Amino acid sequence: MLRDAPARESHYTAEVVENIPDGSAVHLVLRAETSPPPEPGQFLHVTPRRRIGSDPLLRRPFSVSDWDADRGYLRLLIAPVGRVSRLLSGMEPGDELDILGPLGTPFPSEAAEGKNAVLIAGGIGVAPLLFLTRTLLQREIDTTVFVGGAGSEDLLARPVFEQLGASIHLCTEDGSVGHEGLVTDMVDRFLQQTQRVDNTVIFCCGPDGMLYAVTRLSRRYDIPAYGSFEAHMACGVGACMGCSIARAHPQGKEDCYLRVCREGPVFALKEVIQHG
Ligand SMILES: Cc1cc2nc3c(=O)[nH]c(=O)nc-3n(C[C@H](O)[C@H](O)[C@H](O)COP(=O)(O)OP(=O)(O)OC[C@H]3O[C@@H](n4cnc5c(N)ncnc54)[C@H](O)[C@@H]3O)c2cc1C
Ligand code: FES
Repeated sequence: MLRDAPARESHYTAEVVENIPDGSAVHLVLRAETSPPPEPGQFLHVTPRRRIGSDPLLRRPFSVSDWDADRGYLRLLIAPVGRVSRLLSGMEPGDELDILGPLGTPFPSEAAEGKNAVLIAGGIGVAPLLFLTRTLLQREIDTTVFVGGAGSEDLLARPVFEQLGASIHLCTEDGSVGHEGLVTDMVDRFLQQTQRVDNTVIFCCGPDGMLYAVTRLSRRYDIPAYGSFEAHMACGVGACMGCSIARAHPQGKEDCYLRVCREGPVFALKEVIQHG
């Protein structure tokens, strides 16, 4: 069953409080009065407040990596890969961002009630899973986190997961930290050994290859899996169809495409990936 994005977004300015380098990325801590509050898996559509003419022309989507309601602090985890992410990664305290959000459909964290939650992150995919980890642990849900990357520089946010008190397993393809190999192979071994495999739910975010591998695992073990997907976006609010991806099992003509910014970015993997 497809879900749709919850409450309406707002448009506001956020001020950078701190820029914390972390391997190949940075954590931006922002002060903002955001309403409605974000949920894990939702994203913000962001541009630097001070632009040169119309540059950058389009906002870029970034997941909320944490939200401190008491202090009004938002966190983003940003990998500098292009024009806007480099501008944001270089921001200093006092700099301002122009934000539309929160946007998109969150992780269905209620699906983990009374279950064993397995979270799988690849590279920058840890961003939405940090916020989800905090939320699940606050609800006393049994949560195990697997984080993978190409090398040690890509294993992001390790101290944050440790502060949260999460049970965390690390994995690198070059073997420099944690287990050597693919994070999904490590999850496969974990699922083989766990006593509660039929009571497990998976939440994940990472590159497409990882999402395909997780889909195969969810089919093999017959467990539900939800993943956050990426697409290049223009409007971010469901109007332009620029972020559409094909649906795995279309019911009819209108059902063929899904908007990552609206029905997503979080989907049940089987809705989107036909053959894992
Ligand atoms: C829901 C969602 C959440 C996200 N959360 C995060 C997050 O938490 N942290 C984070 O760092 N990133 C996140 N991203 C990814 C981020 O939005 C993109 O990397 C964004 O494009 C960066 O903007 P940029 O201007 O720096 O780079 P861009 O100029 O947009 O380019 C980024 C990369 O994509 C390539 N590219 C650009 N346009 C295209 C195109 N049309 N087709 C194919 N490739 C293209 C570029 O060559 C470059 O390698 C998220 C994306 C989505 C959809
Ligand atoms: S970005 Fe416009 S519909 Fe998704």
